Amino acid sequence: MGRTTRAAHAGRESTWRCEVLIPIARPFLSDEEIEAVTEVLRSGILARGPRVKEFEERFAECIGRKHAIATSSGTSALHISNLLMGISENSEVIIPPITFFATASTVLFCGGRPVFADVDPETYTLDPKSVKRRVTSRTRAILPVDLYGQTADYDAIQRIADKNDLKIVEDACQAHGAAFNGKMAGSFGDISSFSFYATKNITTGEGGIVLTDDDQIAERARLLREHGEETHYNHVLLGYNYRMMEISAAIGIVQLRKMDEIVRRRQENARMLTEELENVKGLETPITGKGRVHSFYQYIIRVNKESPVSREKLMEHLQKKGVGSRPSYPIPLYEQPVLKNLRIAGQCPEAERLLPQLLELPVHPHVVADDIQLIGKSIRECLRP
Ligand SMILES: Cc1ncc(COP(=O)(O)O)c(C=O)c1O
Repeated sequence: MGRTTRAAHAGRESTWRCEVLIPIARPFLSDEEIEAVTEVLRSGILARGPRVKEFEERFAECIGRKHAIATSSGTSALHISNLLMGISENSEVIIPPITFFATASTVLFCGGRPVFADVDPETYTLDPKSVKRRVTSRTRAILPVDLYGQTADYDAIQRIADKNDLKIVEDACQAHGAAFNGKMAGSFGDISSFSFYATKNITTGEGGIVLTDDDQIAERARLLREHGEETHYNHVLLGYNYRMMEISAAIGIVQLRKMDEIVRRRQENARMLTEELENVKGLETPITGKGRVHSFYQYIIRVNKESPVSREKLMEHLQKKGVGSRPSYPIPLYEQPVLKNLRIAGQCPEAERLLPQLLELPVHPHVVADDIQLIGKSIRECLRP
């Protein structure tokens, strides 16, 4: 363990991939996952099989939901979720502007229209006051994102949903191990989704899961995952191939056993880093909202207006010191070219103000106390007035 010079992984993070001592992300894998995958290869059952079923049962139990349907990605899980909540043409779905693209694209896949509500300036999750203002007669669902490892305020969001007869589609793709008022992230939506992408708190390489307590919705989710095939070659719904592989599920079962340890290490690293960065002028450390347990999928600082150096200068300095860092999402989602071309607009001044200031620092489970000290020292020396 300890520092590594290997980049975290290839993929969409590759823009920020660099040879640093402390990479921004690195999966927490050991011989156990290797053995589990080898066993699958030896078994000859590669596509969906007993391990997928076991992973689903264990994950549902861990989050406290009746049904789990494992999928090929968080994106496919969200697509199925939106379809099953009846999102179609003329449906509006209220989503935040600080999130990954799939939060919006999966609404659009169903023919629905993403409507952007602003974020809370402390937790960066959906601001219920702004959500309230965005509800119209066409609103069908609210799609909160449990961002960076912290849930949205589901007390307030549930009240709005109840009052206006709306569904909640929970995007818990970033929140394995997070909780709100004693309940796990993933237990708040009428339907909820997780991603197991390589950077996530627990990973299957690529993968996702849909969670629900409703027997009929679960049955339809299983059908949509697999070509709507009710019995062999009998297709009753226009479904997809969104299956999870046995290899992925085998990794997932091992990762799930380690989830508590992974989250505990992230939380401890976050606590130490916050201590290191206390009282540094121009810098704000993450705030954990009321009732929340933060699982620190990402540790996000704010380099605010009082900082003597820009966020970009700080990143350059950290790079020289061997510390990986990267901006959070560069722009509000509604500024993405494809959404503009589709005439999907948004107006979220809080998100627009915050995004240029947000910077992610490494707290993944391979980061050790010495690393945290180096990160703290490097930041303090750069921001010294
Ligand atoms: C908030 C959010 N939603 C959806 C997704 C999509 O998950 P996946 O990459 O597994 O398709 C991600 C993953 O990055 C995410 O962070």
